[in-house]
Amino acid sequence: VIGFFSEKYLRGRRVLVTAGPTAEPIDPVRILTNRSSGRQGFEIAREAARAGASVTLVAGPCALETPAGVTRIDVETAQEMRGAVIGHLPGTELFVSVAAVSDWRPASAAAEKLRKTDAAPEIRLVENPDILAEVGALSPEFRPYTIGFAAETSRLEERARRKLEVKKADAIVGNRFDLAAGSERNTILYVTREGAESFGPAGKDEVARFILRRAAGALGR
Ligand code: CTP
Ligand code: CA
Repeated sequence: VIGFFSEKYLRGRRVLVTAGPTAEPIDPVRILTNRSSGRQGFEIAREAARAGASVTLVAGPCALETPAGVTRIDVETAQEMRGAVIGHLPGTELFVSVAAVSDWRPASAAAEKLRKTDAAPEIRLVENPDILAEVGALSPEFRPYTIGFAAETSRLEERARRKLEVKKADAIVGNRFDLAAGSERNTILYVTREGAESFGPAGKDEVARFILRRAAGALGR
C-alpha cells in the first residue's frame, strides 16, 4: 500500500510540458524545422500523469499517440507554442521545456507556393521567442519550477550550465543530441545549481521518471 501511494509522487501537481519540433512556414508546402521525434517529451508527459499530476502537453508536429490522461494542445510554430504555454502558465507548478523549438523563422511566409522555375529564394530568417527564457524570467510568484533541455553535440556540462544561468532555469537536462536523436534510449546529465548527475543510457521512460522524481523532490521542499 505504501508503495502504491509513494508512486503518486506528483499527485495533484499541475505540470506543463512542451515536446516535439516546431515547423516554421516558408510557403504553404515548405517548412523550416528541427530534428525531433517528440518521444522524450511525450514520455515525460506520460510519466507525470502516471505519477498523479494534471498534465498539459503542448506538442509540435509529431506522429505520436497522446499519453493516457494527458491534455494535448497541437501547435506548429514557435509563436503558437509560446502562446499556448503563456496561456496555460497560471496555476502551473512545473514546466518542462523539452521541445526542439526552431531558433529562427522565415521573416515572412509566401502566400503562394514558390516555384522552382523561379530563381532559388533567398530566405531571410528572424529570431523566434525563447519560451524557456521567458518563463525563467517571470517573477517568483508566477514562475513554475522550470526545467529545460540542452541538446548538444559536445561540451555538454559547460553548455548545460551556461543555459541554466542564461535562461534562469532551475534545472537543465543536458543530452548528447548525436546519441539520443531517433533513439528509444537517452543518456543525460541533470544539472542544477547544487550539482550535476548523470543518468543512463536508459529508456526514455526511465529518463522521464528520473527527471520527474528530481523535480518532485525540489517541489516538495
Ligand atoms: N527553447 C525555447 N524556445 C526557443 C529555443 C529553445 O523554449 N526559442 C528551449 C528548449 O525547449 C530547451 C532549451 O530552450 O529546453 C534549450 O534549447 P537549445 O536549442 O539547446 O538551446 P538554445 O538556447 O536555443 O541555444 P543553441 O540552440 O544555440 O544551443
Ligand atoms: Ca536552439
